[in-house]
Amino acid sequence: MGNSIAIHPMEGCDGNLDGSPGDLTFRRYRRFGESGAKLIWFEACAVAEEGRANPRRLWIHRASVSALKRLLAVCRQAHRERYGSLDGLVTVLQLTHSGRYASPKPLVAYPHPVLDRWPTVGPVSAPPRATPPQVTGDEHLEALEDKFAEASAWAREIGFDGVDLKMTHGYLLSELLSARARPGSYGGDLSGRATFAVRTLQKIRQRAGKDFLLADRLGVYDGVPYCTSDGKAEGVPRDFPRPYQFGSGVRAENPLHMDLSEPLRFIGHLRDAGLGLLNVSMGIPYANPHLSRPYEKPNEGVYETPEHPLLGVARHFKAQAVIQEAYPDLAVVGAGYSWLQHFLIHAAAANLMLMLRRIKFVGLGRAALAYPWLAREALEKGEINPLQTCKTLSFCTYLMRSKNHPLGQFPAGCPPFDKDPYGQIVKEARHAARKN
Ligand SMILES: Cc1cc2nc3c(=O)[nH]c(=O)nc-3n(C[C@H](O)[C@H](O)[C@H](O)COP(=O)(O)O)c2cc1C
Ligand code: SF4
Repeated sequence: MGNSIAIHPMEGCDGNLDGSPGDLTFRRYRRFGESGAKLIWFEACAVAEEGRANPRRLWIHRASVSALKRLLAVCRQAHRERYGSLDGLVTVLQLTHSGRYASPKPLVAYPHPVLDRWPTVGPVSAPPRATPPQVTGDEHLEALEDKFAEASAWAREIGFDGVDLKMTHGYLLSELLSARARPGSYGGDLSGRATFAVRTLQKIRQRAGKDFLLADRLGVYDGVPYCTSDGKAEGVPRDFPRPYQFGSGVRAENPLHMDLSEPLRFIGHLRDAGLGLLNVSMGIPYANPHLSRPYEKPNEGVYETPEHPLLGVARHFKAQAVIQEAYPDLAVVGAGYSWLQHFLIHAAAANLMLMLRRIKFVGLGRAALAYPWLAREALEKGEINPLQTCKTLSFCTYLMRSKNHPLGQFPAGCPPFDKDPYGQIVKEARHAARKN
């Protein structure tokens, strides 16, 4: 890889109903191609229609392959035009099944005492969901392993350098990580819980070949679900049982604290199955968004951050560093930088320092939506423009959660810094919400 800067997977919810990319998807990846980052991690792409979280999420299947090929070509072409060649550019496609957050039919790995009733943030007094979601059976999971392998073969045909098995953010594969009470082949002890990932990586190897990069976006700390309590703006944890057995990387006696011992062993299983690249994430954005995306201001309907965002950034940095130290030969990508605004580049440089070796890649999430050429300016000029950096005001997340659109989903982007087109889009989303 040509440098140490990555663009994180960032879905724009702007695909077509058939799973192919739309005009705004092409626009985003053209910009990412020009960004200067050498690792471009393409957003969540469902391996089955039932696994989409919204009707505009990308979905890989035989009929969408040619459009996805064009999307990759546009990104690579933009990179070639700007930098003269494709040397050192690596592209990875994130493959997913949205599980509990799949729409219209949620599917879970095991019954969860809190999320089954309150899957998303809201007031503490909100009535619980009446019907618990369906728990997926072993046969379905086995068939899903093959879907991931088939999708990987298509990803290879398209020209991606590798695929990511998305195991984070509360989606189906990440729930398997904590399926301690699940009977059968995919739950129980850690090796049972690793079965899906290990077998799928092996199947991908068989279908996509030895030189295909196997990557994983891993949720190393799920935390507990949050809500707002009466008269308080800050989020508070919803009541949860103890010992808490229902999340990845949580300390059972006090799940408000991270315990990386299991995720570290889990990564060992993935390594043995050929994992080459690991993107470390955390939290369940629907239920505790401050963990995965430390923010200054929440999107509407979400709680104010219950901790100083810098503590959230520090939690990310800590997890990345512990994992990189335990697996020095693994390429670890770190997240959680955007809240630092223009200081992110200093923190990135420190974490990348050879002496410290805390991570191998710095990943940009919201920062890249607001300021796609941040990487280029940092590398070429040695500084970035503080007036252009993401201010973590969560308009992008507001759009991601806005469903009152004729296609069932508004496109997500950065209205403050990418006004044309997102200034108008956010106005329309607000108008539609008021009308609703
Ligand atoms: C609009 C939006 C879309 C996102 N889409 C994805 C996605 O498709 N896959 C994923 O793993 N994470 C997704 N994320 C999470 C980001 O990749 C990243 O982990 C998170 O924003 C924290 O990094 P940051 O502080 O640099 O923004 C998304 C975040 C946002 C705000
Ligand atoms: S809308 Fe733009 S500035 Fe606000 S959090 Fe999202 S990327 Fe950052």
